[in-house]
Amino acid sequence: MKQEQQAYDALFRPLKDLRISVTDQCNFRCSYCMPAEIFGPDYQFMKEDELLSFDEIVRLAGQFARLGVEKIRITGGEPLLRKGLPDLIRSLKTIDGIKDVALTTNGVYLVRQAEALREAGLDRVNVSLDAIEDSVFRKMNGRNVPVKPVLKGIRRAQEAGLEVKVNMVVKKGANESQIVPMARYFKGSNVILRFIEFMDVGNTNGWKFDSVVSKKEIVDRIAEAFPVEPAGENYYGEVADRFVYSDGGGEIGVISSVSDSFCSSCTRARLSADGKLFTCLFAVKGEDIRARIRSGIDDRELYDMLADVWKNRHDRYSDERTEETVKERKNGRKIEMSYIGG
Ligand code: GTP
Ligand code: 5AD
Ligand code: SF4
Ligand code: SF4
Repeated sequence: MKQEQQAYDALFRPLKDLRISVTDQCNFRCSYCMPAEIFGPDYQFMKEDELLSFDEIVRLAGQFARLGVEKIRITGGEPLLRKGLPDLIRSLKTIDGIKDVALTTNGVYLVRQAEALREAGLDRVNVSLDAIEDSVFRKMNGRNVPVKPVLKGIRRAQEAGLEVKVNMVVKKGANESQIVPMARYFKGSNVILRFIEFMDVGNTNGWKFDSVVSKKEIVDRIAEAFPVEPAGENYYGEVADRFVYSDGGGEIGVISSVSDSFCSSCTRARLSADGKLFTCLFAVKGEDIRARIRSGIDDRELYDMLADVWKNRHDRYSDERTEETVKERKNGRKIEMSYIGG
């Protein structure tokens, strides 16, 4: 089915990317995302029949493509915990208009799965890694997992032909010491390292303005060790600001949702694993698409409904973030990162 019409929201932003969460579970307990005190043994994760099936996801993605979506990113929780993921990727790759299918993962299961994912047509992986020093990483992931399996996973992904980026969330007082060592490790390796400002997603990670290490601080620290120069964006709506090493050692990126937000070019819709559609990472409420699909809605109605949600979108949470809005949204119970996939 061909694209029907590029959808624009109320602030004239085109719909270009769809982030699909396939599970809310994870084998890590990063304190900034799933703090172990909250996501403990009694935490109620989604039940099997609550999850969208692969057929339901593919059907939805097909309608999104008709509205202009070109990029799909699979997220979690940890998406590689969902069984049979290569089957989903294979089907998504056959959709008209979808040019790029990527995955965001903590990397532990890549050693086992990278090849099958690539064979199914996956284009890229973004691997979260918050430290290169083992003791710091073990603390950051909350499950005492060593760095080695993640590095192995990254290597296996590269060998399989996947393009790899590494995401490092920088949290003050926790892993700032790792900024330069991480840059040093990945410099010249063909892996693009991106530093991410700690964000106030959800309500459980104890976020404070004070715990953010800003883009400026991050770039200053790196520049002291290795000269860098700003570079332009790779594509419209890219969330990372790019920098290249002056000596040709490749590039890094900084994702600065707090100190320098990028809502004006935000082209992303997000689908939770239980089929709710969100138009912002910091949303409180989503549209229950699963209920509509399971009540027998046809493709025309589905298309119209998705178009309508995007047309009415006004979100620009990060642009408007102040101490006051942070407080207000906390009371409103924002969705959690592991639920919406970042
Ligand atoms: P690329 O397609 O490789 O550029 O990936 P990406 O950066 O869009 O996705 P990824 O899952 O690697 O996300 C990296 C970081 O950017 C995570 O912390 C995300 O939560 C954050 N991020 C992605 N999109 C948005 C967004 O629209 N708003 C905000 N505030 N953060 C975002
Ligand atoms: N702030 C910034 N980034 C976060 N991520 C998870 N929680 C947060 C947060 N509070 C990152 C993960 C992963 C991506 C999907 O989002 O590390 O790389
Ligand atoms: Fe799991 Fe990623 Fe959240 Fe860490 S950031 S707990 S790896 S979903
Ligand atoms: Fe998009 Fe919301 Fe992030 Fe702004 S805060 S860039 S609107 S997801």
